[in-house]
Amino acid sequence: MKKHKFVFLTTAILFAAVIAGSFLAVFLSYRISAESEYSKIEFEKLQVSDPNFIEGKKYIIPGNPGYNVDTKRVLGIQSFRLPLTQSNQVINPTPEYTFTGGLTIEQLKEFLQTQLTLVLTEIAKDTDAALLEGLALENIALGQEDEFTAQANLINIGYAEVFMSNCNFYNELPITYNLTTKNYILTNTAEFKANLCAKYVPPTVPEEATCTDCTFYPADKLHRLRADYAIEVINADGVPGAQRFAVIAYSDLLDLYSAATNAGYNMRLTSAYRSYTDQQNVYEVWVQYEMGFGKSRAQAESDANSYSALPGFSEHQLGTTADISSLDCIGIETMCYSNEVFWQWLKENAHNYGFVMSYAPGKDNVTGYIYEPWHYRWIGVELATEFKHKYESRSYLAEFLRNKKLY
Ligand code: DAL
Ligand code: ZN
Repeated sequence: MKKHKFVFLTTAILFAAVIAGSFLAVFLSYRISAESEYSKIEFEKLQVSDPNFIEGKKYIIPGNPGYNVDTKRVLGIQSFRLPLTQSNQVINPTPEYTFTGGLTIEQLKEFLQTQLTLVLTEIAKDTDAALLEGLALENIALGQEDEFTAQANLINIGYAEVFMSNCNFYNELPITYNLTTKNYILTNTAEFKANLCAKYVPPTVPEEATCTDCTFYPADKLHRLRADYAIEVINADGVPGAQRFAVIAYSDLLDLYSAATNAGYNMRLTSAYRSYTDQQNVYEVWVQYEMGFGKSRAQAESDANSYSALPGFSEHQLGTTADISSLDCIGIETMCYSNEVFWQWLKENAHNYGFVMSYAPGKDNVTGYIYEPWHYRWIGVELATEFKHKYESRSYLAEFLRNKKLY
């Protein structure tokens, strides 16, 4: 190669390198200044008030914070690739609305009472009118949360409780708020209709339980347990009294015992699980006791049966029932102060451990038994609490369980 040709080629390469270098410098400086073009759109949370909505409650129409879109440009020089710009955009954001209302529960109840009349009129068209007697909206339960989230234009608020006086039981109607019409609607009327209860017609002869697990069976004078019905029981060694108790309810019994002890009471089980045969013996003892007053056998049986169940008819056969008294008294006698105060405590607290009083005062005509402040049956904390708060004053345990149909 001639010398001047070599010099020309070298100069050309150098020149090209300088040109490419300056391009690169321009791109690099651009990259540095525009490294992140970020057009951020804030996700909005708006507070709106709506007087049609319930006071003190919130409902939320969820928004959408949008999607992040990244754009990259790349400088490619042969196999060399250099990222140059990057822009980050948020697209499709929609604001979240939080509504607060101005409607009082009383106003809502008044409005829903009219709705209920419409619902009942509709149901009456193809239902026995007797089922609809005396139905009245008693309570509005708004669910656990203070906030409700809208789905489409509907918000499920909770439910209205309608008391069915013909069977002493509550029925529930879900309540929905329509955001478009700004109105409350009682929904799911088909389910409501299916749950209407007929007036109780007592059987003419006692019915025998067919359940294999009769824990929630309404054992009373018209509902008998099979002679061979037996449940798994253990020695209730954790509580004074040398009794046996159903395994499923034993830990709640121990909790009741601890709570009673902490509250200063000396709890004892006077009687707990009794098999069919045990009950036969107990009942006979009381019949003999009554006959001791010179009564006929028939009279003695009838009198004994006001406080002692016939075999098969006792809740004690369930294993979940206990006669509870104070160790400071001889037994379940009523003329003993320690029993009196302890029974008062049980009345107020036993439901917290799943126990309820089966034979409340003034209910003899429906339970068939005198007031027994010592006799408690376990039905679990949830049911016991519901019974205590919603039913105890107007109903009684066997009726509550009959309506619950958990057997
Ligand atoms: N004392 C109750 C009624 C019973 O014997 O089961
Ligand atoms: Zn008892």
